[in-house]
Amino acid sequence: MFITLEGPDGSGKTLQIHLLEEFLTARGYKVFCGREPGDTFIGEQIRQVLMDHQNKNMHPRTETLLFCAARAQLVEEVLKPHLERGDIVLLDRYADSTMAYQGYGHQFDLDLIRSLLHFATGGLRPNLTFLLDVDPQTGLERRQKGGGEWNRMDAYVLQYHQRVRQGYLEMAQADPQRWKIVDASRQPDVVQSELREILLSYLSNLS
Ligand code: TMP
Repeated sequence: MFITLEGPDGSGKTLQIHLLEEFLTARGYKVFCGREPGDTFIGEQIRQVLMDHQNKNMHPRTETLLFCAARAQLVEEVLKPHLERGDIVLLDRYADSTMAYQGYGHQFDLDLIRSLLHFATGGLRPNLTFLLDVDPQTGLERRQKGGGEWNRMDAYVLQYHQRVRQGYLEMAQADPQRWKIVDASRQPDVVQSELREILLSYLSNLS
């Protein structure tokens, strides 16, 4: 089973995904937990290029292709082998991030981005996607206060991040079977309880 966590910057995905990993592992599931872009030797190098402040003049099309390149490698090298073994794959961002950030954020043709994503992923889609929803102002303030990595992408103007959030909400509302929207402006333990509850009910419906 393939589960992704998505959301605007500062939505707390990284903490939440590690707590979910612990929770599932303690219940005896074999879990692979990863992040995008990265988690392959090639992908980590691409991540550095994407996040580097020195690459201020990177064109949004270059940026889009780099995210897709890192993802293509991850799918083949890591995700498919884990899924074939029957592991649960938990991923911090995936193709929906490119739809939200590059498609909606940079206002590219969404059908073109969809085709590009299909090519990059070979059509591999998550079974379940959590949208950790938070308004961009709160998210970006959280990131600055938290002292986390402040990257080239965070420096985009607030309107860009607002389009990203709207894009996420639109995608989630269009496919409620796959997407579950969770209000991430609440305390982390409250968010985690809701994620676990949804996940357990999803897993029990499968068995
Ligand atoms: P992170 O902070 O969740 O690790 O994500 C890194 C940044 O990269 C974040 O600002 C979102 C952005 N991003 C995209 O713009 N497109 C993508 O396809 C992915 C995976 C991330």
